[in-house]
Amino acid sequence: MPIRGMFYEPPPSTLSASMVVPFATLLLREQPRIARAVESLTAALPSYVRPAAEYALNGGGKRLRPLLTVLVSHALGGKDKDQDDGVYKIGAAIEMFHVASLLHDDILDNAPLRRGREGTHIRYGVPRTLLTADAMVSRAFQTLAETGDPRYMVCATRAVIGTADGEIMEIAHQGSTEGGLDGYFTIIAGKTACLLRASCELGALWAGADEATLGLVAEYGHNLGMAFQMADDALDFAPSSETGKPEGGDIREGKLTPPINYHMESLDAPARAEFARRFAARDFSDAEIAELVRAVRAGGFQERTLKLADSFLDKAAAALEGFPAGNDAQAKAALAKAIEFVRNRTA
Ligand code: IPE
Ligand code: IPE
Ligand code: MG
Ligand code: MG
Repeated sequence: MPIRGMFYEPPPSTLSASMVVPFATLLLREQPRIARAVESLTAALPSYVRPAAEYALNGGGKRLRPLLTVLVSHALGGKDKDQDDGVYKIGAAIEMFHVASLLHDDILDNAPLRRGREGTHIRYGVPRTLLTADAMVSRAFQTLAETGDPRYMVCATRAVIGTADGEIMEIAHQGSTEGGLDGYFTIIAGKTACLLRASCELGALWAGADEATLGLVAEYGHNLGMAFQMADDALDFAPSSETGKPEGGDIREGKLTPPINYHMESLDAPARAEFARRFAARDFSDAEIAELVRAVRAGGFQERTLKLADSFLDKAAAALEGFPAGNDAQAKAALAKAIEFVRNRTA
Protein backbone atom coordinates (compact mmCIF):
# COMPACT_ATOMS: atom_id res chain seq x y z
CA MET A 1 0.00 0.00 0.00
CA PRO A 2 1.50 3.36 -0.94
CA ILE A 3 2.13 5.72 1.96
CA ARG A 4 -0.05 8.27 0.22
CA GLY A 5 -3.09 6.13 0.82
CA MET A 6 -2.78 6.63 4.53
CA PHE A 7 -3.19 10.37 4.36
CA TYR A 8 -6.40 10.29 2.40
CA GLU A 9 -8.82 9.46 5.18
CA PRO A 10 -8.49 5.68 5.32
CA PRO A 11 -10.41 3.84 7.97
CA PRO A 12 -7.79 3.52 10.76
CA SER A 13 -8.65 -0.15 11.18
CA THR A 14 -7.13 -0.96 7.77
CA LEU A 15 -3.69 0.13 8.93
CA SER A 16 -1.18 -2.28 10.25
CA ALA A 17 2.41 -1.83 11.34
CA SER A 18 3.69 -3.65 8.28
CA MET A 19 2.03 -1.14 5.97
CA VAL A 20 3.55 1.98 7.40
CA VAL A 21 6.95 3.53 7.82
CA PRO A 22 7.66 4.32 11.48
CA PHE A 23 7.20 8.07 11.19
CA ALA A 24 3.87 7.57 9.50
CA THR A 25 2.84 5.41 12.43
CA LEU A 26 3.67 8.30 14.69
CA LEU A 27 1.77 10.73 12.54
CA LEU A 28 -1.25 8.51 12.89
CA ARG A 29 -0.83 7.99 16.62
CA GLU A 30 -0.91 11.73 17.34
CA GLN A 31 -3.76 12.42 14.91
CA PRO A 32 -6.67 12.13 17.36
CA ARG A 33 -5.32 14.76 19.76
CA ILE A 34 -4.29 17.05 16.92
CA ALA A 35 -7.69 16.51 15.27
CA ARG A 36 -9.55 17.44 18.46
CA ALA A 37 -7.57 20.67 18.77
CA VAL A 38 -8.17 21.53 15.11
CA GLU A 39 -11.89 20.81 15.55
CA SER A 40 -12.26 23.10 18.51
CA LEU A 41 -10.46 25.91 16.69
CA THR A 42 -12.66 25.34 13.63
CA ALA A 43 -15.79 25.55 15.76
CA ALA A 44 -14.86 29.14 16.64
CA LEU A 45 -14.96 30.25 12.99
CA PRO A 46 -17.90 32.26 11.60
CA SER A 47 -20.62 29.92 10.33
CA TYR A 48 -20.44 31.36 6.80
CA VAL A 49 -16.91 30.04 6.32
CA ARG A 50 -17.00 26.96 8.57
CA PRO A 51 -18.03 24.42 5.90
CA ALA A 52 -15.20 25.52 3.60
CA ALA A 53 -12.79 25.47 6.53
CA GLU A 54 -13.89 21.98 7.51
CA TYR A 55 -13.52 20.81 3.93
CA ALA A 56 -10.00 22.22 3.73
CA LEU A 57 -8.86 21.21 7.21
CA ASN A 58 -10.23 17.67 7.12
CA GLY A 59 -9.18 16.71 3.62
CA GLY A 60 -6.52 14.20 4.57
CA GLY A 61 -3.57 16.54 5.10
CA LYS A 62 -0.60 14.94 6.85
CA ARG A 63 -0.69 17.47 9.71
CA LEU A 64 3.05 17.34 9.76
CA ARG A 65 3.48 20.84 11.18
CA PRO A 66 1.43 20.34 14.37
CA LEU A 67 3.17 17.03 14.84
CA LEU A 68 6.52 18.81 14.73
CA THR A 69 5.31 21.31 17.33
CA VAL A 70 4.26 18.49 19.63
CA LEU A 71 7.39 16.40 19.08
CA VAL A 72 9.81 19.28 19.61
CA SER A 73 8.03 20.24 22.80
CA HIS A 74 8.13 16.66 24.05
CA ALA A 75 11.73 16.16 22.94
CA LEU A 76 12.81 19.16 24.96
CA GLY A 77 10.91 17.84 27.92
CA GLY A 78 8.98 20.93 28.96
CA LYS A 79 5.74 19.52 30.22
CA ASP A 80 4.04 16.31 31.18
CA LYS A 81 2.86 15.27 27.75
CA ASP A 82 -0.23 13.38 28.86
CA GLN A 83 -1.58 16.44 30.67
CA ASP A 84 -0.51 18.92 28.06
CA ASP A 85 -3.36 19.99 25.76
CA GLY A 86 -1.84 23.44 25.26
CA VAL A 87 0.80 22.29 22.82
CA TYR A 88 -1.83 20.62 20.63
CA LYS A 89 -3.74 23.89 20.57
CA ILE A 90 -0.63 25.65 19.33
CA GLY A 91 -0.16 22.90 16.76
CA ALA A 92 -3.74 23.42 15.61
CA ALA A 93 -3.03 27.13 15.15
CA ILE A 94 -0.02 26.25 13.00
CA GLU A 95 -2.17 23.91 10.91
CA MET A 96 -4.61 26.79 10.38
CA PHE A 97 -1.78 28.99 9.06
CA HIS A 98 -0.66 26.14 6.81
CA VAL A 99 -4.07 25.29 5.37
CA ALA A 100 -4.89 28.99 4.90
CA SER A 101 -1.68 29.30 2.88
CA LEU A 102 -2.78 26.34 0.74
CA LEU A 103 -6.14 27.99 0.07
CA HIS A 104 -4.38 31.08 -1.22
CA ASP A 105 -1.78 28.97 -3.01
CA ASP A 106 -4.24 26.91 -5.02
CA ILE A 107 -5.95 30.07 -6.23
CA LEU A 108 -2.59 31.62 -7.16
CA ASP A 109 -1.41 28.40 -8.83
CA ASN A 110 -4.67 27.73 -10.70
CA ALA A 111 -4.57 24.30 -9.09
CA PRO A 112 -7.91 22.51 -9.28
CA LEU A 113 -6.80 19.44 -7.32
CA ARG A 114 -5.54 19.06 -3.76
CA ARG A 115 -5.23 15.83 -1.77
CA GLY A 116 -6.96 13.95 -4.55
CA ARG A 117 -10.11 16.05 -4.63
CA GLU A 118 -11.30 19.36 -5.97
CA GLY A 119 -9.74 22.42 -4.38
CA THR A 120 -11.73 24.43 -1.84
CA HIS A 121 -11.97 27.38 -4.24
CA ILE A 122 -13.53 25.12 -6.88
CA ARG A 123 -16.09 23.80 -4.45
CA TYR A 124 -16.87 26.97 -2.50
CA GLY A 125 -15.77 29.69 -4.92
CA VAL A 126 -12.86 32.09 -4.65
CA PRO A 127 -14.47 34.82 -2.47
CA ARG A 128 -15.61 32.42 0.22
CA THR A 129 -12.31 30.57 0.13
CA LEU A 130 -10.36 33.79 0.65
CA LEU A 131 -12.60 34.76 3.56
CA THR A 132 -12.11 31.28 5.01
CA ALA A 133 -8.34 31.61 4.84
CA ASP A 134 -8.45 35.04 6.46
CA ALA A 135 -10.70 33.81 9.26
CA MET A 136 -8.36 30.89 9.86
CA VAL A 137 -5.28 33.12 10.05
CA SER A 138 -6.95 35.50 12.48
CA ARG A 139 -8.11 32.67 14.79
CA ALA A 140 -4.65 31.14 14.68
CA PHE A 141 -3.11 34.44 15.80
CA GLN A 142 -5.73 34.73 18.53
CA THR A 143 -4.78 31.31 19.86
CA LEU A 144 -1.14 32.31 20.08
CA ALA A 145 -1.99 35.68 21.65
CA GLU A 146 -3.87 33.80 24.35
CA THR A 147 -0.62 32.29 25.58
CA GLY A 148 0.12 35.76 26.98
CA ASP A 149 3.73 35.42 25.85
CA PRO A 150 4.60 37.83 23.00
CA ARG A 151 7.32 35.52 21.69
CA TYR A 152 4.67 33.21 20.18
CA MET A 153 3.21 36.10 18.23
CA VAL A 154 6.63 37.31 17.12
CA CYS A 155 7.52 33.83 15.88
CA ALA A 156 4.24 33.29 14.03
CA THR A 157 4.22 36.80 12.57
CA ARG A 158 7.69 36.23 11.15
CA ALA A 159 6.51 32.95 9.62
CA VAL A 160 3.36 34.42 8.10
CA ILE A 161 5.30 37.36 6.63
CA GLY A 162 7.93 34.95 5.30
CA THR A 163 5.31 32.70 3.71
CA ALA A 164 3.56 35.64 2.06
CA ASP A 165 6.83 37.17 0.87
CA GLY A 166 7.92 33.82 -0.59
CA GLU A 167 4.65 33.44 -2.46
CA ILE A 168 4.87 37.06 -3.66
CA MET A 169 8.41 36.54 -4.91
CA GLU A 170 7.40 33.34 -6.68
CA ILE A 171 4.54 35.04 -8.48
CA ALA A 172 6.69 38.07 -9.29
CA HIS A 173 9.28 35.78 -10.90
CA GLN A 174 6.81 33.51 -12.67
CA GLY A 175 8.15 32.41 -16.03
CA SER A 176 11.63 33.75 -15.33
CA THR A 177 14.66 31.50 -15.81
CA GLU A 178 17.04 34.23 -14.64
CA GLY A 179 17.39 33.70 -10.89
CA GLY A 180 18.48 30.05 -11.23
CA LEU A 181 18.48 28.02 -8.08
CA ASP A 182 19.55 30.97 -5.89
CA GLY A 183 16.25 32.67 -6.54
CA TYR A 184 14.51 29.36 -5.91
CA PHE A 185 16.20 28.93 -2.51
CA THR A 186 15.05 32.38 -1.42
CA ILE A 187 11.49 31.64 -2.52
CA ILE A 188 11.18 28.31 -0.73
CA ALA A 189 12.91 29.56 2.42
CA GLY A 190 9.96 31.96 2.60
CA LYS A 191 6.98 30.09 1.27
CA THR A 192 7.65 26.76 2.98
CA ALA A 193 10.61 26.62 5.35
CA CYS A 194 9.45 29.60 7.44
CA LEU A 195 6.34 27.82 8.65
CA LEU A 196 8.03 24.48 9.28
CA ARG A 197 10.69 26.31 11.23
CA ALA A 198 8.05 28.17 13.25
CA SER A 199 6.21 24.89 13.92
CA CYS A 200 9.36 23.64 15.61
CA GLU A 201 10.20 26.91 17.35
CA LEU A 202 6.75 27.19 18.91
CA GLY A 203 7.16 23.71 20.35
CA ALA A 204 10.53 24.76 21.78
CA LEU A 205 9.06 27.93 23.29
CA TRP A 206 6.34 25.81 24.87
CA ALA A 207 9.02 23.60 26.39
CA GLY A 208 10.83 26.65 27.78
CA ALA A 209 13.96 26.08 25.68
CA ASP A 210 16.94 28.39 26.11
CA GLU A 211 18.30 30.64 23.32
CA ALA A 212 20.98 28.20 22.17
CA THR A 213 18.45 25.38 21.87
CA LEU A 214 16.02 27.66 20.05
CA GLY A 215 18.77 28.33 17.51
CA LEU A 216 19.27 24.61 16.90
CA VAL A 217 15.54 24.06 16.64
CA ALA A 218 15.28 26.86 14.07
CA GLU A 219 18.14 25.30 12.09
CA TYR A 220 16.45 21.88 12.19
CA GLY A 221 13.06 23.28 11.10
CA HIS A 222 14.48 25.50 8.37
CA ASN A 223 16.50 22.74 6.74
CA LEU A 224 13.71 20.21 7.06
CA GLY A 225 11.39 22.75 5.43
CA MET A 226 13.79 23.46 2.55
CA ALA A 227 14.14 19.74 1.85
CA PHE A 228 10.39 19.24 2.22
CA GLN A 229 9.72 21.71 -0.59
CA MET A 230 12.43 20.20 -2.79
CA ALA A 231 10.86 16.77 -2.37
CA ASP A 232 7.53 18.37 -3.22
CA ASP A 233 9.01 19.83 -6.38
CA ALA A 234 10.40 16.43 -7.37
CA LEU A 235 6.94 14.98 -6.71
CA ASP A 236 5.40 17.51 -9.09
CA PHE A 237 6.59 15.05 -11.76
CA ALA A 238 5.06 12.00 -10.10
CA PRO A 239 1.68 10.70 -11.25
CA SER A 240 -1.24 12.75 -10.03
CA SER A 241 -2.87 9.54 -8.80
CA GLU A 242 -0.03 9.22 -6.27
CA THR A 243 0.32 12.82 -5.12
CA GLY A 244 -3.30 13.96 -5.30
CA LYS A 245 -2.03 17.14 -6.99
CA PRO A 246 -1.81 18.18 -10.66
CA GLU A 247 1.11 16.65 -12.55
CA GLY A 248 3.64 19.01 -14.10
CA GLY A 249 1.87 21.99 -12.53
CA ASP A 250 5.14 23.81 -11.91
CA ILE A 251 6.04 23.90 -15.62
CA ARG A 252 2.55 25.08 -16.45
CA GLU A 253 2.82 27.83 -13.83
CA GLY A 254 6.33 28.94 -14.82
CA LYS A 255 8.08 27.97 -11.57
CA LEU A 256 11.77 27.34 -11.96
CA THR A 257 12.13 24.40 -9.56
CA PRO A 258 15.25 22.19 -9.51
CA PRO A 259 13.92 19.45 -11.84
CA ILE A 260 12.95 22.07 -14.40
CA ASN A 261 16.25 23.91 -13.99
CA TYR A 262 18.19 20.66 -14.46
CA HIS A 263 16.13 19.81 -17.53
CA MET A 264 16.85 23.23 -19.00
CA GLU A 265 20.57 22.91 -18.30
CA SER A 266 20.61 19.58 -20.13
CA LEU A 267 19.46 21.21 -23.39
CA ASP A 268 21.80 22.62 -26.04
CA ALA A 269 21.88 26.41 -26.40
CA PRO A 270 19.16 26.84 -29.07
CA ALA A 271 16.81 24.37 -27.37
CA ARG A 272 17.44 26.07 -24.05
CA ALA A 273 16.61 29.50 -25.46
CA GLU A 274 13.42 28.11 -26.99
CA PHE A 275 12.47 26.44 -23.70
CA ALA A 276 13.08 29.69 -21.80
CA ARG A 277 10.89 31.60 -24.27
CA ARG A 278 7.99 29.13 -24.00
CA PHE A 279 8.38 28.88 -20.22
CA ALA A 280 8.16 32.67 -19.93
CA ALA A 281 5.09 32.77 -22.16
CA ARG A 282 3.58 29.78 -20.30
CA ASP A 283 2.04 28.49 -23.48
CA PHE A 284 2.86 24.77 -23.28
CA SER A 285 0.02 22.55 -24.44
CA ASP A 286 -1.13 19.59 -22.33
CA ALA A 287 0.73 17.23 -24.67
CA GLU A 288 3.92 19.28 -24.33
CA ILE A 289 3.62 19.31 -20.55
CA ALA A 290 3.23 15.52 -20.61
CA GLU A 291 6.31 15.29 -22.82
CA LEU A 292 8.31 17.54 -20.48
CA VAL A 293 7.22 15.46 -17.50
CA ARG A 294 8.53 12.37 -19.30
CA ALA A 295 11.81 14.16 -20.12
CA VAL A 296 12.33 15.18 -16.48
CA ARG A 297 11.67 11.62 -15.31
CA ALA A 298 13.92 10.08 -17.97
CA GLY A 299 16.70 12.58 -17.25
CA GLY A 300 16.82 11.53 -13.60
CA PHE A 301 16.13 15.11 -12.52
CA GLN A 302 13.75 14.10 -9.75
CA GLU A 303 16.49 11.98 -8.18
CA ARG A 304 18.97 14.83 -8.58
CA THR A 305 16.54 17.13 -6.79
CA LEU A 306 16.24 14.63 -3.95
CA LYS A 307 20.04 14.56 -3.69
CA LEU A 308 19.97 18.30 -3.32
CA ALA A 309 17.30 17.91 -0.63
CA ASP A 310 19.57 15.43 1.13
CA SER A 311 22.20 18.07 1.72
CA PHE A 312 19.63 20.09 3.67
CA LEU A 313 18.45 17.04 5.56
CA ASP A 314 22.03 16.40 6.64
CA LYS A 315 22.09 19.88 8.15
CA ALA A 316 18.79 19.21 9.90
CA ALA A 317 20.25 16.01 11.34
CA ALA A 318 23.36 17.84 12.56
CA ALA A 319 21.21 20.45 14.32
CA LEU A 320 19.09 17.72 15.91
CA GLU A 321 22.23 16.07 17.28
CA GLY A 322 22.80 19.18 19.37
CA PHE A 323 19.36 19.17 21.01
CA PRO A 324 19.77 18.69 24.75
CA ALA A 325 18.39 15.44 26.10
CA GLY A 326 14.89 15.99 27.45
CA ASN A 327 12.85 13.46 29.34
CA ASP A 328 11.40 11.97 26.16
CA ALA A 329 14.08 10.31 24.05
CA GLN A 330 11.39 8.78 21.85
CA ALA A 331 10.28 12.21 20.70
CA LYS A 332 13.83 13.13 19.72
CA ALA A 333 14.10 9.84 17.83
CA ALA A 334 10.84 10.73 16.10
CA LEU A 335 12.34 14.01 14.92
CA ALA A 336 15.13 11.98 13.33
CA LYS A 337 12.47 9.87 11.67
CA ALA A 338 10.86 13.05 10.36
CA ILE A 339 14.08 13.60 8.42
CA GLU A 340 13.81 10.12 6.91
CA PHE A 341 10.15 10.73 6.19
CA VAL A 342 11.01 13.81 4.11
CA ARG A 343 13.83 11.92 2.42
CA ASN A 344 11.42 9.18 1.32
CA ARG A 345 8.21 11.10 0.98
CA THR A 346 5.82 10.08 -1.75
CA ALA A 347 2.98 12.54 -1.10
C1 IPE B 1 1.98 21.21 0.88
O1 IPE B 1 2.30 20.85 2.18
C2 IPE B 1 2.55 22.52 0.58
C3 IPE B 1 4.01 22.56 0.59
C4 IPE B 1 4.67 23.28 1.41
C5 IPE B 1 4.76 21.76 -0.36
P1 IPE B 1 1.93 19.42 2.77
O2 IPE B 1 2.43 18.37 1.86
O3 IPE B 1 2.37 19.37 4.19
O4 IPE B 1 0.36 19.45 2.70
P2 IPE B 1 -0.74 18.52 3.40
O5 IPE B 1 -1.34 19.39 4.45
O6 IPE B 1 -0.12 17.30 3.95
O7 IPE B 1 -1.70 18.22 2.29
C1 IPE C 1 3.92 25.57 -1.37
O1 IPE C 1 4.14 25.77 -2.68
C2 IPE C 1 2.73 26.34 -0.95
C3 IPE C 1 2.86 27.15 0.23
C4 IPE C 1 3.81 27.05 1.08
C5 IPE C 1 1.85 28.15 0.49
P1 IPE C 1 3.58 24.88 -3.88
O2 IPE C 1 2.66 25.68 -4.70
O3 IPE C 1 4.74 24.28 -4.55
O4 IPE C 1 2.80 23.74 -3.12
P2 IPE C 1 1.78 22.71 -3.71
O5 IPE C 1 2.55 21.88 -4.70
O6 IPE C 1 0.71 23.51 -4.36
O7 IPE C 1 1.30 21.92 -2.55
MG1 MG D 1 0.74 25.20 -5.35
MG1 MG E 1 2.48 27.76 -5.02
